[in-house]
Amino acid sequence: MTQMTPIQFQETDLDALATATGRVAILVTPEGELNPPARRANKLTRGAVTRLLESDRFAKAQSGQVITLAWPSGMVAEALDVLVLKKRSSAVEARRAGAVLGKLKGKAALLVAAGSYSRADELAMGIALRNYSFDAHKTGGDSDETPGPVTLSHNRHERIEASAAPLLAVAEGTIMTRDLVNEPANVLTTTEFASRLEEMTALGLKVEVLEEDKLAELGMRTLLCVGQGSDSPSKVVVMEWNGGEEGAAPLALVGKGVVFDTGGISLKPAGGMEDMTMDMGGAGVVAGTMRALALRKAKANVVGLVGLVENMPSGNATRPGDVVTSMKGDTVEIINTDAEGRLVLCDVMWYAQERFNPAGMVDLATLTGAMIIALGHDRAGAFSNDDGFCEAFLRAAEVEGEGAWRLPLGKSYDNLLKSRIADMKNVGGRPAGSITAAQFLQRFVKDDVPWIHLDIAGVASIKSDTDMAPKGATGWGVAALSRLVEDKFES
Ligand code: BES
Ligand code: MN
Ligand code: ZN
Repeated sequence: MTQMTPIQFQETDLDALATATGRVAILVTPEGELNPPARRANKLTRGAVTRLLESDRFAKAQSGQVITLAWPSGMVAEALDVLVLKKRSSAVEARRAGAVLGKLKGKAALLVAAGSYSRADELAMGIALRNYSFDAHKTGGDSDETPGPVTLSHNRHERIEASAAPLLAVAEGTIMTRDLVNEPANVLTTTEFASRLEEMTALGLKVEVLEEDKLAELGMRTLLCVGQGSDSPSKVVVMEWNGGEEGAAPLALVGKGVVFDTGGISLKPAGGMEDMTMDMGGAGVVAGTMRALALRKAKANVVGLVGLVENMPSGNATRPGDVVTSMKGDTVEIINTDAEGRLVLCDVMWYAQERFNPAGMVDLATLTGAMIIALGHDRAGAFSNDDGFCEAFLRAAEVEGEGAWRLPLGKSYDNLLKSRIADMKNVGGRPAGSITAAQFLQRFVKDDVPWIHLDIAGVASIKSDTDMAPKGATGWGVAALSRLVEDKFES
């Protein structure tokens, strides 16, 4: 796994500004107020900072932006990053500002002299999140360089270090998700995925891998029919974090883990098919969230279940027209083998409810291309049978700066799934494709279980940089789910 940029917290040391190597960052307010580290940097550079404050460039600068002074005289550093930041910024603003510094940092060392800035913990999280890059398969060049460390100096560094710890736990979970989503499918096979999850037992998680024979015994025929054309064995991995009261019903997180989606016999077109390495994004978010909860020792019971399969065409792959029986007992006529995510999820969701009797269930999946048409790349689609639960999630996502938008469910959509020969079809046609997919899943949710379905097809991996991540996997959802757990499930 990519090692998250390590961050050291230190007491403010004005003398260190002159001798620090790599980059040095200072904070100034949009009104042009200088704290002691900024004043020292100004003195070292013989007034470069005050000259900047008098410039048009500064007059136009918004809170959260960085103006870089390159190779500042009087300092050893290669750059002085002047971060313009309101004293009373929100958590998300502070995190985004940290992300700007984290992007500029690259592989250099970075000293952030934050003075007494109150949200330096969020600044640290932003740096860690945006300084990420996925270099596992690059040889030579800067990818072999060991990245320089980050030092964050603060007048109350112990307090900031303590409040940053749970935030950095969430960042580390997010980075695990990104690594899983970025990994190509020849590396991240179902077996490799399961073994990466098993490694999390070191963090105090209980991890159990259910193999094909066990899945067959449980009757998970719809899940198994997706993977039956692949040489990689299908698996369900169950992760348990028991940080809450003994016996308290857990929150269940369920993730779609299609390590590669060719479409199966309903083969996808060649153009862009390589993007389907990210079709395990839901499982990736579940894994990263479990990691974050374990690292921050959440006082809650949470179970994470992922269905790991590969959707391949072959002589023994599932055919369009096949009828398969789910673990619940309902039969499904498979019209399109490319609508495979719901076939995986329905069995894992049913199993999660039968085994754990959860107090709530959230499933995550890169489920439909239609989701991207509806909401694009900065909001995931949310579907729910419980207004209060859904509101709580949407609020958590908003606070964490992760977009989500609720879409409707309803009988008329459900009717589109009627099959001539089985209990349902696996597709409902082109109109409202994301909603009919959610309706399919709802047929496998017990009436008294509060449930949210998150269709993350548009947000799991993006072709351009975002504020918090470079292009590629975003780790969307880890922070929101960790906050949902904190808000609604921690004692
Ligand atoms: N994994 C895809 C959905 C997807 C598409 C995710 C693009 C991310 C980016 C899913 O398995 C799929 O193929 N869905 C079909 C459903 C259809 C056959 C009803 C789709 O969206 O076209
Ligand atoms: Mn598909
Ligand atoms: Zn898929």
